[in-house]
Amino acid sequence: MKKRIAVLTGAGVSAESGLGTYRDNGGLWDNYDPMVVASAEGWARDPGLVLDFYNMQRAKLRDVRPNEAHRLIASLEKDYTVDVITQNVDNLHERAGSTHVVHLHGEATKIRPENTCNDADGYSEKYVVDVGYEAVRLGDKAPNGAQYRPHIVFFGEAVPKIERAADLVGQADIVLIVGTSLQVYPAAGLYRYARMEAPVYLIDPADVKLYDSRVHHIRKVATEGMKEFVGMLK
Ligand code: OAD
Repeated sequence: MKKRIAVLTGAGVSAESGLGTYRDNGGLWDNYDPMVVASAEGWARDPGLVLDFYNMQRAKLRDVRPNEAHRLIASLEKDYTVDVITQNVDNLHERAGSTHVVHLHGEATKIRPENTCNDADGYSEKYVVDVGYEAVRLGDKAPNGAQYRPHIVFFGEAVPKIERAADLVGQADIVLIVGTSLQVYPAAGLYRYARMEAPVYLIDPADVKLYDSRVHHIRKVATEGMKEFVGMLK
């Protein structure tokens, strides 16, 4: 049976594709207030602004390509059972060929009626619609009459896939973390579900606070770090 690798990724894995990160200097949250454009309160106050922000994020995806780090992560599937658990809302892991991707914070290319995927319907994704790179406007309504909203986990909302993700990390023989500042919970705590005997690797050029002494930090950008990681597996 193949060994299992859980790969936890953040914005840093897509940085070399040309997508900005959130918290680095000049990052997205330097230019936009997440509480206005990416929170439950922001949606309640000004949904048009939130739709515009995600229209912009979605449109950017048309112009970017997966990079070597996404491709190397996908190529691990030749020898391992790989679960990619990403905080990213882009589609670059899938486009690079990864076949098991859990999007903890949702997907920019998808929308859903604003009154679904909540506690009341058991977080069912059956109303989720793939819009590709198209813009969504105020007044674009679902068959059930509700306004469409981005299929994104806003700040202030539950993270429905966190338990599934924790299970996958707990089953892994190797845990790899790539390009995340580990500042947003509950995603930031996932690596702690790694089994005692599972080695944990981190690829990030910056210092990232990890409360686990077994973490092996590869202090490189994602593309270079992934080459080193793949070399170490041989
Ligand atoms: P951050 O912007 O917080 O962190 C990006 C990380 O990527 C930092 O640790 C950088 O050092 C690292 N980095 C930058 N360039 C890199 C490169 N070329 N190769 C590898 N690493 C690089 O992004 P996240 O941790 O992903 O949530 O942010 C987590 C969540 O906060 C996002 O999913 C988003 C945001 O608010 C929602 O929108 C719900």
